[in-house]
Amino acid sequence: MNVDFAERVKRLPPYLFAEIERLIKEKKAQGVDLISLSIGDPDLPPPQFLIEALKEEVADLKNHNYSFSQGEPDFRRAVSDWYKKRFHVDLGQNQVVALLGSKEGIANIGRAFVNAGDRVLVPDPAYPVYANGTTILNDAVPVSMPLLEENGFKPDFDSVNPERVKMMFLNYPNNPTAATADKKFLREAVDFASGNNIILCYDNAYSEVSFDGYKPLSILEIDGAMDVAVEFHSCSKTFNMTGDRIAFAVGNKQLISGLTKVKSQVDSGPPVYIQRVAAKALESYASDEQPDFLKKMNEVYSERRDLLVKTLCEMGFECEKPKATFYVWVDCKSNSMEFATKLLDVGVAVTPGIGFGIHGENYVRFSLTQPKEKITEACDRIRKLFR
Ligand SMILES: Cc1ncc(COP(=O)(O)O)c(C=O)c1O
Repeated sequence: MNVDFAERVKRLPPYLFAEIERLIKEKKAQGVDLISLSIGDPDLPPPQFLIEALKEEVADLKNHNYSFSQGEPDFRRAVSDWYKKRFHVDLGQNQVVALLGSKEGIANIGRAFVNAGDRVLVPDPAYPVYANGTTILNDAVPVSMPLLEENGFKPDFDSVNPERVKMMFLNYPNNPTAATADKKFLREAVDFASGNNIILCYDNAYSEVSFDGYKPLSILEIDGAMDVAVEFHSCSKTFNMTGDRIAFAVGNKQLISGLTKVKSQVDSGPPVYIQRVAAKALESYASDEQPDFLKKMNEVYSERRDLLVKTLCEMGFECEKPKATFYVWVDCKSNSMEFATKLLDVGVAVTPGIGFGIHGENYVRFSLTQPKEKITEACDRIRKLFR
């Protein structure tokens, strides 16, 4: 058969992580003991009480039927209760939709609202799904908003042309730069979106991975955000449930309804037992304070962060301790692919910034998803290289 990919699939950009992934595979095949600081997938397990809950919920035979496409009522209630406790935001049941991971919702929101030729504002560097899954695969046009270090890795709305823009993505705490956003910036973002009739998609996947007393905000805490915004959250990084595929979108009623409409024709919702476990995870919050198991998890990441940042600073890299996410974004002062390849030669895998967009060039992303001993060993290897 002679198959031809759809034009929108042909328009997807080359996968820039492919080369580094090929090199990693090659090293592994050569038997190199590689330390991977490249992936955004926690090494820590979900807390034990969630594993116990999962066993119980899986064993309940009622939990194996189709779920509601908007999500089980109990799960949506748990999400709105969590929002109230964590962010002091009120959400009705029709302002919540369950997702099969936030990636799915981020991609499907495009199908619901973006028409061919519409422009979508996408930060650069960024999680690649905004430009590809949401925009290009819906025949729309990604327009890059540079995230520059001198602007704290925030877009400059004054330099953005809002003509024919339908949607904008923002993500703080940010992957890959680990930058965070304060209320003033979020206020500007909401004003820009409402002033120009732009749908604001706020990706808050890392809201619970934070350090040193810093508490990330929800865009919905900003007055007027509920008129223009949808916020994406995920249990992936918060509860170390990346493979369980459970997340949620919340916010403006019409935006949630459009996303739900698309999803009702595309998937049949996350498994009921996973939604029940995720509800228990969210219910572990008694207030806007994190439960103890999350505090411990963040202590583990912050110890790893301190170790890595100290080493990088000693080697002359300018590198601040991030307040959130499990990433460290470093100006490598050279071509990011070449730098990553050099580290690979001493058995350390990192992610070249160019894979996140052209403004990611000259940076690399270190992931803190390895135990402390491995990070110590990786630091030793890197030190040798730069001696
Ligand atoms: C910024 C950001 N958003 C969304 C996701 C998707 O997470 P999930 O689909 O597991 O909820 C990721 C995953 O790495 C991410 O880094």
